[in-house]
Amino acid sequence: MTQIVVINFGSQVAHLINRRIRELGVFSELMPCDISASKIKKLNPLGIILSGGPASVYSKNSPKLDKKIFSLGIPVLGICYGMQLIGKEYGRVLGGKLKEYGKKSLLVKKQGKLLKKLNSKEQIWMSHGDLVTSLPKDFRVLASTDSCPIAAMENDSRKLYGVQFHPEVVHTLRGKQILRNFVFDVCKAKKDWNINLAAKLINDVREEVKADSVIMGTSGGVDSTVAAVLVHRAVGNRLHCVFIDHGLIRKNEAKTVRNRFKKLNFEHFYFIDASKLFLSRLKGVVNPEKKRKIIGFTFIEVFERKVLELNKKHRGIKFLGQGTIYPDRVESAKTSSASSKIKSHHNVTLPRKMKLKVIEPLKDLYKDEVRELGKHLKLPSEIINRHPFPGPGLAIRILGSVTPERVSILREADNIFREELKISNYYDKVWQALAALFPLKAVGVKGDARTYEYIISLRAVTSKDAMTADWARLPSWLLEKISSRILNEVKGVNRVVYDISQKPPATIEYE
Ligand code: XMP
Repeated sequence: MTQIVVINFGSQVAHLINRRIRELGVFSELMPCDISASKIKKLNPLGIILSGGPASVYSKNSPKLDKKIFSLGIPVLGICYGMQLIGKEYGRVLGGKLKEYGKKSLLVKKQGKLLKKLNSKEQIWMSHGDLVTSLPKDFRVLASTDSCPIAAMENDSRKLYGVQFHPEVVHTLRGKQILRNFVFDVCKAKKDWNINLAAKLINDVREEVKADSVIMGTSGGVDSTVAAVLVHRAVGNRLHCVFIDHGLIRKNEAKTVRNRFKKLNFEHFYFIDASKLFLSRLKGVVNPEKKRKIIGFTFIEVFERKVLELNKKHRGIKFLGQGTIYPDRVESAKTSSASSKIKSHHNVTLPRKMKLKVIEPLKDLYKDEVRELGKHLKLPSEIINRHPFPGPGLAIRILGSVTPERVSILREADNIFREELKISNYYDKVWQALAALFPLKAVGVKGDARTYEYIISLRAVTSKDAMTADWARLPSWLLEKISSRILNEVKGVNRVVYDISQKPPATIEYE
């Protein structure tokens, strides 16, 4: 059951709120800002949070809220833009007056319900916007800053609360306490998220699939494995798992994945070696989106062939199970006219073109939630802690055209990189590590001979959810060891570089 509804007025910020509530162990869901009061009533949540957002409540095109939401008798916490909506409804808002933003000191005058357990002075994060200038009727001011006289307010009898700053960002040091106060003390929510999640997801799959069968493509990665295990628990031997080797997987991966699924006792696991087909279609293709599309379409083809074959024997395969997670959908979607599509994520664009109905049990989860779920399902740690690996595989790490020679060079370099990270215990300290091959050759010298060979770029990043990332500060002794192993052991490489780009502006993968 949805306990908290977060109404989204500006994507990224709202997602953070949603995550924080779930971190408190409470099931919350994001809803678009045009949701009607009657729909919320149907959801019957214990609390509503109005997120921040980039707009001013005074601008013509600012997102509007169904005002009846305020009279549902459900507690409402407005954050930034959300507080201004409350202010506009019950008091007065002053446009564009809050010029100072960033880290500020919050002076707590009264704790009320919302600021319980906070000290008289707390660090908060303010983002610029309108100011609520006159206190709405029956509200009281809880806190202010030097530039914002009403930084937090509440009307406890009507269960309306507002903060001008952002409790969901880490720079608001006690932000989580504020959310805790709202969620548990005001809304009386109960911890339920992690406890019931697996059971809920399994049940959802069971209800959707009914007596039909499901086919899933699995890559052996965290997402697709967790998704497959959930579906398997829901439908048992009516799940057919297919692993397609597109010739762009990591060294030894095929064997590892096969063994893993054997151990997981899946009744139907099929391995298809389609590497020749994929590599022939990629020949000479340089454009990253084209590569992704070719791989995606070829996947569909190979998959559909398998479905036809299986349906002759088993019949009733009507569903395609996918391990799509929340960030995949965000980055592949054009969420508003102002945002642009970054990449066609393989597992998002692919199934939309197939005739099967798609089920994506993990579609609302962030990666760390998927990992938690994996632990709950008692999956071995080598699956849970595995670094993400993209569906199009090494093709998007070979800049330019993909050739068998380049694939084999990259595969060896990548394997050395991962081996050394594991030996040194750095593998689990980074979000993801990868090697990429630049389609350029540099001059070098080996023995006494001149060489003219490829450049390998090593990239290791830290991140919480892949939406943003920083390059990992790996120690120089480790980089030295990896570099010298690659230069000595991988034929065709005479230079290794380390990528020190953050996301944004870079992305984690190269294409
Ligand atoms: P980027 O490169 O967009 O990647 O910063 C963010 C995360 O997503 C992974 N990634 C993919 N995963 N299919 C996937 O399953 C894809 O097509 C794909 N492209 C990127 C990437 O490895 C990183 O963890």
